[in-house]
Amino acid sequence: MSASITREQLLAAAKEFGTPLYVYHAERIIAQYRKLQTAFAATDTRIFYACKALTNINILRLLKTIDAPIDCSSINEVKLALHAGHAPENVLYTSNGIAFSEIAEAKELGVNINIDSLSNLEKFGKAYGHSYPVGIRLKPNIMAGGNLKISTGHENSKFGIPVEQIDDVIALMQAHNIHIRGLHIHTGSEIKDVEVFIKGLDVLFELMPRFPELGFIDLGGGFKVPYKDGDEGTDITALGKAIATAFEKVQTTYGKPLQVWFEPGKFIVSEAGYFITEVNVLKHNPQISFAGVNSGFNHLIRPMFYDAFHRIENISNPDGVKKTYTVTGNICETDNFATDRYLSEISEGDFLVFYNAGAYGFEMSSNYNSRYKPAEVLYKDGKAHLIRRRDNFEDLLRNQPFVL
Ligand SMILES: Cc1ncc(COP(=O)(O)O)c(C=O)c1O
Repeated sequence: MSASITREQLLAAAKEFGTPLYVYHAERIIAQYRKLQTAFAATDTRIFYACKALTNINILRLLKTIDAPIDCSSINEVKLALHAGHAPENVLYTSNGIAFSEIAEAKELGVNINIDSLSNLEKFGKAYGHSYPVGIRLKPNIMAGGNLKISTGHENSKFGIPVEQIDDVIALMQAHNIHIRGLHIHTGSEIKDVEVFIKGLDVLFELMPRFPELGFIDLGGGFKVPYKDGDEGTDITALGKAIATAFEKVQTTYGKPLQVWFEPGKFIVSEAGYFITEVNVLKHNPQISFAGVNSGFNHLIRPMFYDAFHRIENISNPDGVKKTYTVTGNICETDNFATDRYLSEISEGDFLVFYNAGAYGFEMSSNYNSRYKPAEVLYKDGKAHLIRRRDNFEDLLRNQPFVL
C-alpha cells in the first residue's frame, strides 16, 4: 500500500472532478489508525476518531470498516455517525456548552456522553439518576497545544468543569446518585510533548479515588503531525509506553479494570488529505508575485484562522525553476494561503496542491461570497470515488424561499 497519493492521481482527479477539490486517501487513514492501535496495544485502549476533523459519511463508514469508534462534538455528528452505521455504544458525544436537550437526545440515542458543565450534570442527575452512565469533562489547568486558539485545558478556557470545583461534582454525584463512569480531559491540539498527556493523566489519577464507579479515563485528542519538512509529530510510541507504565501503577490501586480512551482527529486524517486549486491569475509587482487561486479561506481557513502552514506544490510543473510567490485566494477579503513561498514556476491554469488538508479543511469551509463549497473525492484501492459533489446554484438557494 502506498502511503500517499501520487501527483499523477491528483492531476487526474483535478481534471476529472474539477477544482477546488478535496482528495482523501482511504488506506492512509486506516494506516494512521493502525499506528495508534499499535502504539497503545499494551493498555486496554479505545481510540475514538474525532469526526469534527473530517465528517463526510463515507469517511465515517470507512472507519466503521475497521471498527473504529467515533467521537462527536455535536448532536448532528452523533446522528451522522449512527447514519453511517456505527452502533450507539461505539459513538461518544463530548459536548461543550450545549443545551441539556441535546444531552437528553444523545441519551435517547443510546450513545456515550461526556458532560462538561455542573449545570448539565445537575440536570442529568435530576433526570436520570443512576440509570445512565456518564463521563465528565474536566478542565485540568494545563496550558498546551500549538497556539492559544487550539489550547483548551488552560485556566481561562471555556472547556470542561474546572478541577477546583470537584467537590461540587461529588456533591451532585451523591445527591442524585449519578453513575460517573469516566473522567475526560482534552488539553488542546498539536501537542508534541508526551509529558503533557502524562501531566493530564496525573491530574485525573489524583481525582480517581473519589469516583468509585469509573470504567475509563479519556485523554481526548491533540496528537501532532508534521506539516513541513523538519517538523516532528507526537512520538506516539513513547506516549504508548508512558501511558502503559502510568496505568499499570494506578490500575492496582484503583482495584478495578479501567480503559484509556483517546479522541484523535488530526492524527488520523490530516496527512491523508490534499486540497487542489487552480491558478486563476498571476500578478507581479516589484516586491511580490501573487498567484491567485480559485479558492480562499472560505474553503481552507486554517492559514488565515490559525496562521497554519500547509506545504504547497505546483503539481503541473513540479520540476520547474523555483520562484517566490504569495499564494492568495479569490475571496473579497485579505486571504493569504502563503506568503513568500518558494514554489516551482507557476503559470495560469496550473494546479497547486495543499498538503495536510485532511483535517479541519472541508469541515470549516463556508459559502462566503456565495462561492460554492468544494467537491470531495476518496481514493480507495487506487480508484477515485466522488463522496461529495460540488455545490451548485440550487444549493445556494436551498432554504431561501422568497417572501417578498
Ligand atoms: C474534545 C475534543 N476531542 C478531540 C479533539 C480532536 O483533536 P485533534 O484533531 O487535535 O486530535 C478535539 C479538537 O479540538 C476536541 O475538542
